[in-house]
Amino acid sequence: MADTVAPSRPEQAHRRRAEMSDLETPAGVLLVGAALQEDGRVLVEWEDGRRARFHAIWLRDNCACPDCRHPKAMERQFLFIDGPEQVAAARVDLTEAGDLLVLFAPAEPGAAPHLAAFHAGWLRSHCYADWARRERATRVRSWDGGSIPTVDYAAVMTTDAGLTAWLAAMRDSGLVLLRNAPAVPGTSLRIAGRVGPVRRTNFGELYDVVSMPNPNASAYTPIALEPHTDLANWRRPPDFQLLFCVENAAVGGGSILVDGLAAAEELRTVDPEAFATLVRHPIDFRFHDESCDIRHRAPTIQLDGDGNVTAVRFNNWLRSTLDVAEEAVEPTYRALRRFWGLLRDSRFQVRLRLAAGDLVTFDNSRVLHGREAFDPNTGRRHLQGCYLDRDTVLSRLRMLERVERS
Ligand code: OGA
Ligand code: ZN
Ligand code: ZN
Repeated sequence: MADTVAPSRPEQAHRRRAEMSDLETPAGVLLVGAALQEDGRVLVEWEDGRRARFHAIWLRDNCACPDCRHPKAMERQFLFIDGPEQVAAARVDLTEAGDLLVLFAPAEPGAAPHLAAFHAGWLRSHCYADWARRERATRVRSWDGGSIPTVDYAAVMTTDAGLTAWLAAMRDSGLVLLRNAPAVPGTSLRIAGRVGPVRRTNFGELYDVVSMPNPNASAYTPIALEPHTDLANWRRPPDFQLLFCVENAAVGGGSILVDGLAAAEELRTVDPEAFATLVRHPIDFRFHDESCDIRHRAPTIQLDGDGNVTAVRFNNWLRSTLDVAEEAVEPTYRALRRFWGLLRDSRFQVRLRLAAGDLVTFDNSRVLHGREAFDPNTGRRHLQGCYLDRDTVLSRLRMLERVERS
């Protein structure tokens, strides 16, 4: 890098680092080795040789000085709308500690220039170069060979490492089995309590899955349940489902878990037309009983702006009367049939028999679940479930990581 600023820093370990008003400890302890301006952007090179370009407007927007970011609330106060549309760096420099200093050109002649300091590790953690974004993207782990990540109840309840392993498996694999919990009612709520507040629904904060004489839902019968996502009739279905086995003594009632993401990707490959239909045409869902009538209309497969599958919504008994344009009726039934067939395909399934004291947790936007029919005359089958929102789960995981890193 030509014309760079690279001061010698004999005592850098003792120098003050730039304050970013961010409680997350930056990954790594890398320092900036050099910085220069180039075409209105700031080129940064860290000591490990990695380089990135930062736009001046992005840097200005992320200044963390007490005027730009509230020092107590740590929230953004800077109003970029009130600044110039063309932001320019007048000068770049490095602090003695190896952080980046940027002096921004004043908005109008005579005004004071603004000085911002950026912690080298913070810059690296938030760097938006292609390579950095690729490295940061959460890698969705596929299920290999039908083995399910498994954790132990005692470890999750009593250690940070156990809790971290459980939550990380939820995030990355979308499915995790917890074993050896006390087989008593209420256990799933106590385990969820390690994470945060549960998500309450029309079925309460804890629901009992038992065969009952006057069921208000298919789950409360002994009949087989096709692979489904729960509460597809809600605008925002719960993100994670915790299904706990209190007792499983009846003949039948095996559990089925389906990687909906893998099935959707397979559909995209083998039948792109069906895939497009399920992305484009929303399906109506509805649950109603004596006390509620909850309806929502949403596509079966949801994509983000880059075309990645972000959610799958499929539930045959909650599916309401089809209401699509006339010419979309047959394509919709055809596409649903193709997708449903893949959900029944053993390639995407894991089957297991829950034992008393087992808790299976899965990502309800990615993983579908189902069960085989059971015979309630042969023994008692009692599951208890509750839900957690993704925000609650990921926040807890970040807090554990914050402690781990500091
Ligand atoms: C449910 C459900 C599965 C089972 O209650 O939503 O899918 O094994 N139960 O009973
Ligand atoms: Zn500032
Ligand atoms: Zn269910």
